[in-house]
Amino acid sequence: MPKDSKPIHSTSPSGESFPIPRKDDYRKEFERIKHLAEQARKEKKEIVVVMGVGFVGAVMAAIIADARDEKGDHSKFVIGCQRPSVRSYWKIPLLNRGQSPVKAEDPQVDPLISRCVLDSKTLTATYNSDCLSLADCVVVDVQCDFSKEDLGCMTTGQADMAALEATMRTIGQKIPADCLVLIETTVAPGTTEFVAWPILKKAFDRRGIESVPLLAHSFERVMPGKDYVASIRDFWRVCSGCTPEARDRVVAFLREVLNTKDYPLTVMDRPIESETTKIVENSYRATILAFLNEWSLFAERNGVDLIKVIEAIKVRPTHSNIIFPGPGIGGYCLPKDGGLGYWAYRHILGFEDGDHFFKITPAAIDINDTRALHVAELVRDALRNMGRYIAAAEVLLCGASYRQDVGDTRYSGSELVVRKLTEMGAEMRVHDPYVEHWYEFEKQDVYPAPGRSWARFFRSQDDLVNLRIGKDLPEALKGAEAVILAVPHREYLDLDPGKVVEWAGGPLAVVDCFGILSDDHIRRYFELGCEVKALGRGHIQRIKEEIRKRR
Ligand SMILES: NC(=O)c1ccc[n+]([C@@H]2O[C@H](COP(=O)([O-])OP(=O)(O)OC[C@H]3O[C@@H](n4cnc5c(N)ncnc54)[C@H](O)[C@@H]3O)[C@@H](O)[C@H]2O)c1
Repeated sequence: MPKDSKPIHSTSPSGESFPIPRKDDYRKEFERIKHLAEQARKEKKEIVVVMGVGFVGAVMAAIIADARDEKGDHSKFVIGCQRPSVRSYWKIPLLNRGQSPVKAEDPQVDPLISRCVLDSKTLTATYNSDCLSLADCVVVDVQCDFSKEDLGCMTTGQADMAALEATMRTIGQKIPADCLVLIETTVAPGTTEFVAWPILKKAFDRRGIESVPLLAHSFERVMPGKDYVASIRDFWRVCSGCTPEARDRVVAFLREVLNTKDYPLTVMDRPIESETTKIVENSYRATILAFLNEWSLFAERNGVDLIKVIEAIKVRPTHSNIIFPGPGIGGYCLPKDGGLGYWAYRHILGFEDGDHFFKITPAAIDINDTRALHVAELVRDALRNMGRYIAAAEVLLCGASYRQDVGDTRYSGSELVVRKLTEMGAEMRVHDPYVEHWYEFEKQDVYPAPGRSWARFFRSQDDLVNLRIGKDLPEALKGAEAVILAVPHREYLDLDPGKVVEWAGGPLAVVDCFGILSDDHIRRYFELGCEVKALGRGHIQRIKEEIRKRR
């Protein structure tokens, strides 16, 4: 609890400032929550506390709060609990107004949260973790990070479980003995049984509770994007418990809150199996993406359009999930989850021989983490072919997020493109229709944590704190000497080359990172005096020759 001095504030992404609660506020806040919980209990609702209302927890909390029993009555009262830190406190007052703390492209998110908070009143949020004493079930959605020490070297990274361990300690101190604790956080395999369970057991011992804590694991497969809510509620889940009783409780809970009728549950014997499922499925995805990096370079150098190769392969049902990697693989999960598995093998499970057989997962993550650097080489080469230099060139990057049509910038390949080109002396500007603030730059001193920004891997990064996202494409293009189409956002899919050149004020270098340009558009750019380069698209050279001959 903060000492009673000057109020400290927490500021939301839209710039609204909220004073962080003082010591005196805690008791009144608990009375508020207790009163609401007692009321809900009278209505036969179960009390569920969701720890951590970030990307996953905020929407999961609302889905639970929206659940109804066979009679059609709301069956749960949900308390979203969040640390009152400077960085995160603002999420609580926002939620309590019925507003989503996460910006989502899914039109269901805002009405879902507002409905649960304001209409059914089955969802509230608090900073006071004493609410845990009221819980029948606690869902843990705090982060568990994997922080890399070196660029392109996953094996020197470390899991950062501080938030998760702190949360488990608080839970152990406060929950009733028969409360179910469900860890949804993606964790290093072994965490539920060998880290979290002992923390709970020790806390129970200290409190003189003789029963064994009821602990379960069921990971999230959420995709923040246009199907955000469905990716949690209408999707297959895997779960397991530390004891048969915990397993039965988690199965019953998930059946009550998720659409398990259409998307049946898979129940595993032990949490380490459910934890490993998540790590392996994400390592698999990271691997099939990384695998195409070498063929992308092969294609560029030998007149092959990898985009067409992939389309030709995808018609085989057995190969339909082959996917072009773009400028690296961002998002919160794919860059880190394999690292959690590799790390756990040594640091939780106690084996020393991981480097003898963990070959593919580390290589895949390292390839994905550095693929974006090649984009900077393409920009350099395209400008050179136009008789220009990268140093002091005005370069526009289109697309800051890690995938199309979302505003999530976590670990996006675009960040590395901006950093590398800045190091090479380019003047960078950015356009993205979905991203308001690119905190990886604006707050690079403290985001994702002090000293953890990718800025540390490059020189001359200081001025990037001033990088702002443009929303008006013609304006952003004005005077640009190069444009990088980094993400296939809808707005970039069918840009007219004539307009792009007109807005830029003359021919420019065009670099396509995601197979966005059609052959006709590539041809048109050359006709207009532009230079075109692209990841994995060696046939561009052929189109260039064709135009040159025609001239
Ligand atoms: N975001 C995704 O797309 C996604 C997809 C699948 C799985 N996951 C997994 O879900 C987990 C959560 O991810 P997220 O994206 O929601 O993270 P997030 O950073 O958006 O949210 C975590 C929240 O927990 C809060 N928190 C931290 N410590 C706390 C404490 N002691 N008490 C209460 N609250 C605390 C943080 O302030 C933050 O608001 C991660 O393990 C992630 O790997 C995320």
